[in-house]
Amino acid sequence: EAAILENTLGLPCHAERFIAATTHDEVRTALAMAARDTSPLHIVGGASNLILAPRLSGVTLQVACDDWWWEESDEQTIRVYAQAGLPWHDLVTACVERGWWGIENLALIPGHVGAAPIQNIGAYGVELADVLEAVHVIHCDDGRDAVFSRDDCEFAYRDSIFKRDLAGRVVVTQVVLRLSRHPSPRLGYGDLAKRVSVHPEVQEIFDAVCAVRREKLPDPAVLGNAGSFFTNPVIEATQAERLLREYPAMPHFPQPDGSVKLAAGWLIEHCGFKGARFGAFGVHERQALVLVHFGGGDRQELLALAEHIRDTVQQAFGVMLEREPRLMG
Ligand code: EPU
Repeated sequence: EAAILENTLGLPCHAERFIAATTHDEVRTALAMAARDTSPLHIVGGASNLILAPRLSGVTLQVACDDWWWEESDEQTIRVYAQAGLPWHDLVTACVERGWWGIENLALIPGHVGAAPIQNIGAYGVELADVLEAVHVIHCDDGRDAVFSRDDCEFAYRDSIFKRDLAGRVVVTQVVLRLSRHPSPRLGYGDLAKRVSVHPEVQEIFDAVCAVRREKLPDPAVLGNAGSFFTNPVIEATQAERLLREYPAMPHFPQPDGSVKLAAGWLIEHCGFKGARFGAFGVHERQALVLVHFGGGDRQELLALAEHIRDTVQQAFGVMLEREPRLMG
């Protein structure tokens, strides 16, 4: 079936052959079909972290299985199994409702469960890698099942093996998370601690994270966007020291290996881009790291704006920004 794909950026995309697989056998059938016709294969989740081409030829596959269940490992520990097609925020909501700790800081992240390990989603001091136990996949070349342990996934900041060596080579079908009944609030990021009580319930943290995100980040249903458009750059300590002498107020986060992570949003804002509009696209007025689409634009225009921002930041600070959402097609 040909289909028009919905994308949070609001860029129209016509998929030549779109398959929403509701069983693993349907996934395998779609993979075999793409292999037989030697046609390109595109694997999409919720398409919230993708910049889609106007046209995707070949097979575009989405895992539509969206069940989840759990088992109690011991009195404290819950092992959660979630299928790839479940919206991530629905899973977070369901776990928080049951009083389980671990993913409350990752509330309101758009997209499906299956995409979460690919870029190792993270927010407010927590990354998926902190709670992930395993990722179940199907290999595209021969349809075999495989299970990746957390170590196998080679997680790093907004990165995993699925984004690198295995890009386009496996379909994520399920993730396994390890959550806990034991309170473990993580409030170190930003002003999260100020927004909750001294011994907060998991629900309070979830509510606070939702509130912060709603204050800062545009709702893709209202204004097209793909979340942060760039990753936060990590630079050498000597360069960070030099920049801090000139800009003492610059946010900076020393890393365990001695390097320093900067806030790309701050760099972009300090180049004067915050709230600026360029035709159909613009820089969000409350978070400069998010590019927004007002409608009617195309991918070339968006990439040209991103290039302009990258060049300007590079000129001003000598720091190179990397794009965060992936190009597809
Ligand atoms: N800042 C500015 N101006 C801006 C934006 C940010 O000065 O326009 C400063 C803030 O004042 C703060 C620092 O930059 O001191 C960090 O800002 P913020 O807390 O908003 O987070 P971020 O670093 O811009 C990252 C993630 C977000 C995640 C938040 C919260 C990346 C690429 N982005 O943004 O993730 O929600 O932290 O943890 O790491 C995403 O990946 O799509 C995403 C939204």
